[in-house]
Amino acid sequence: MNRNRLALFRISFLSITAAVLVAVAASQVHSDAAEASKSTLDTRVAAAVRAAEPADPHRVMGSQTCVKCHASEVAVWQQTPHAQTFEQLHRRPEARQIAARLGVQSIKYDGRCVDCHYTQQADPSDPHEITAIAGVSCESCHGPARDWLDVHHDYGGEHVTRQSEPAAHREQRLRESVRLGMRNPVNLYLMAQSCYRCHTVGDEELVNVGGHNTGSLDFEMVSWSQGMVRHNFVRSDGKTNAASSRERLRVMFVAGMIADLESSLRAVASATVKDTYGLTVAKRADRAARRLKSAQAKLAHPRLAEVLGVYDNVQLKLNNSEPLRKAADQIAAIGYAFADESQGTELAAIDRFVPPPEKYK
Ligand code: HEC
Ligand code: HEC
Ligand code: HEC
Ligand code: HEC
Repeated sequence: MNRNRLALFRISFLSITAAVLVAVAASQVHSDAAEASKSTLDTRVAAAVRAAEPADPHRVMGSQTCVKCHASEVAVWQQTPHAQTFEQLHRRPEARQIAARLGVQSIKYDGRCVDCHYTQQADPSDPHEITAIAGVSCESCHGPARDWLDVHHDYGGEHVTRQSEPAAHREQRLRESVRLGMRNPVNLYLMAQSCYRCHTVGDEELVNVGGHNTGSLDFEMVSWSQGMVRHNFVRSDGKTNAASSRERLRVMFVAGMIADLESSLRAVASATVKDTYGLTVAKRADRAARRLKSAQAKLAHPRLAEVLGVYDNVQLKLNNSEPLRKAADQIAAIGYAFADESQGTELAAIDRFVPPPEKYK
């Protein structure tokens, strides 16, 4: 860690200089477009600055609400460990051991496990009655649907279809869905934040006392989302479920690396003792930053320069919660802006790093 911290002081000066230089160059090219989209981006960034959170049980609708329009997506999801964990987890001996070490009475009902393994819903007739209705579900990744459900499929009139919806209406609809709490895949950073919220464990005691793993250390956004989890039916009007385009996968890959750093910094922020948890999450943050730096060596991308600038000004140490959380929030906003702006065409230099189909889980 010492080596890392020393290195940071040297790099921070350079990357701030680079960020300023690149930002100046970029602003000359993009100033018109940036001006036009500034006001919309600001509200969307503000929404995204929020860290991904467990779906609020009072706003969860359940996958039965989605099935009438998304039957194929639901069928795919039912075959994944995300859905199956609902029936399986509490029966596993390792799960019972972890729970016993922490004094958790009910794996399905104690918030500690529920936040990442289940979806809870409040009973509409008695809001205090909250039960687990599924494993990791649609709304765990896309956000609780109560507020955005009606908006997200409203093309703007009875006779308007996906094809005939005016571009401006579509833009407005997508933006509104995000404002209402949807983690809409129109912005891949919102999706990456969802994955990393669970796949990086942010609970020190769960690991040090409970013996839970620190999350999926080998998690990577493209390979983990394009295999068994994939449900890309809407874009082909239900005809196929193909992997995303090369350009989109580039954006997803970089968004995933940024979200890895964000979630790792949040995890380090909750580390208070020098033990398995603190060491593992600090290494994970350092690794995420090193990966971004090697991508940046190929891309020289202004948004990555910003992310690395934030990282270089924060120390990976125990009991440093406030600065680390603040850095994570800043990175979240930059990650959102990156995914909002990037079409992937400017990211060809990293194609070699983006996992090929054989690697899809
Ligand atoms: C009444 C039909 C209907 C219901 C119910 C419905 N959806 Fe959709 N959904 C659609 C349509 C139509 C689209 C395609 C919108 C488009 O063309 O962009 C869509 C698109 C999406 C998208 C892709 C992003 C987007 O905005 O295009 C996601 C994610 C999604 N729905 C999730 C859900 C979830 C989760 C539920 C259940 C909580 C749900 N939907 C319920 C009709 C529905
Ligand atoms: C921060 C999110 C998070 C929390 C909180 C959490 N888990 Fe997990 N858990 C995960 C993830 C992600 C995995 C899958 C990790 C992997 O193998 O890639 C997992 C895996 C597991 C496994 C291994 C599953 C297998 O495939 O064999 C067990 C057992 C388990 N969790 C039990 C628990 C129990 C019990 C609790 C509550 C005391 C809990 N978890 C709380 C995220 C979480
Ligand atoms: C609410 C928490 C949560 C979210 C959000 C989440 N996961 Fe998971 N994921 C889990 C847990 C828990 C498991 C392990 C389930 C088990 O084995 O019981 C898992 C397992 C998986 C697996 C199977 C791994 C294996 O080796 O079998 C894949 C693939 C996966 N997740 C991908 C993703 C992707 C991609 C995203 C984001 C788009 C994501 N997950 C979002 C909690 C989550
Ligand atoms: C593990 C997290 C996760 C879960 C669970 C999940 N989604 Fe998704 N969803 C994603 C990701 C990531 C994408 C973007 C994938 C891509 O672009 O390749 C996506 C994309 C979509 C799309 C747009 C597909 C297209 O063709 O563009 C729809 C619609 C959708 N999801 C609906 C659902 C519904 C309905 C459920 C529940 C049955 C669900 N999702 C469960 C992560 C998830």
